[in-house]
Amino acid sequence: MNFVSDNIVGASAPVMEALARANAGTMPAYGADEITRRIKARFAEIFEREVSIILVTTGTASNALALSSAVPPWGLCVCHREAHVIDDECGAPEFYMHGAKLIGLPGEGAKLSADTVRAYLDGLPRAAKQMPPKALSIAQATECGTVYRPDEIAHLSAVCRDHGMALHMDGARFVNALVSLGCTPAEMTWKQGVDILSFGATKNGCLMAEAVVVFRPDLAEALEHRTKRAGQIISKGRFISAQLEGYFAGDHWLDNARHANRMAGLLAEGLTRLPGIRLAWPAEANEVFPILPQTAADALRAAGAAFMGWTEASLPEGEKVGPDEALIRLVVSYATPEEEVRRFLDAARAALSRQAAE
Ligand SMILES: Cc1ncc(COP(=O)(O)O)c(C=O)c1O
Repeated sequence: MNFVSDNIVGASAPVMEALARANAGTMPAYGADEITRRIKARFAEIFEREVSIILVTTGTASNALALSSAVPPWGLCVCHREAHVIDDECGAPEFYMHGAKLIGLPGEGAKLSADTVRAYLDGLPRAAKQMPPKALSIAQATECGTVYRPDEIAHLSAVCRDHGMALHMDGARFVNALVSLGCTPAEMTWKQGVDILSFGATKNGCLMAEAVVVFRPDLAEALEHRTKRAGQIISKGRFISAQLEGYFAGDHWLDNARHANRMAGLLAEGLTRLPGIRLAWPAEANEVFPILPQTAADALRAAGAAFMGWTEASLPEGEKVGPDEALIRLVVSYATPEEEVRRFLDAARAALSRQAAE
């Protein structure tokens, strides 16, 4: 019963088969191969327009490169205060932006509202000595498993336009958000004003494949040079593209995310039926954040369940984790068996009834 994260599992069979196929014969290096050409065309199809694509091996590289192309060294990049880019990337975005700063703002469920961002921007002093805001970065899905609706993205992009800022989306869990909303990739991104996207595929079935998808041509200008300087132009580049070919074939990527989200739904529904358990935020993608008695969390761990505790920083107003309670994060993936979810729910039920009997 391992719910620690969605990167604890291996790659899916279609991805591994595509890799094995790509292993045969010789091909031009550094992304000049036929599979990479096909994958770039596939991204254009998926997003229903021309896009520039950079293929990399980690989400951190993808975010850092995307942000460095949108923010000059003297700029500010606004994000949620719990965003992966500010909290979990060891300063890589700031390192690649060469002096620019990330500014974290609050927001329930790790989501930023257009009002919060506008109020912050309107309050910034404007002088040559002050760093001007140049980009806003949002995560879709967020670090709290919530999802921005297309209209919320559009409101944020309107704020960005008014302030001459680019809008970046950290899509480490892009497809989990996509199938949750039931919209198209275009409707979740450029049609709402997203300028540059970190498209994640590793967590949902690839081995290590992420893409920077650029919708605004001026942001793509120096991106290949930046990618090489970051050591992310892979010499046997066909192997990233091959993963993505297996990933996209036959809607495998969508099916994987639908499975993960369904497992999260089962967990969420099952847990909220149990007395004394409530969710910190709605489970809108593939993560569930229950608040439960500390004794139940301990009993679940003792029964062999693995998961992380989570921060209370973005709880809804009025919500609190009591002194005898724990807030935990459960992440499911494309490979989580339904049986594992059911075993976890049974263990939670057993822990709570033991507690009630004591
Ligand atoms: C929201 C978010 N962004 C980006 C990443 C990518 O990180 P990594 O560099 O580990 O691939 C992650 C991974 O945990 C994430 O959760």
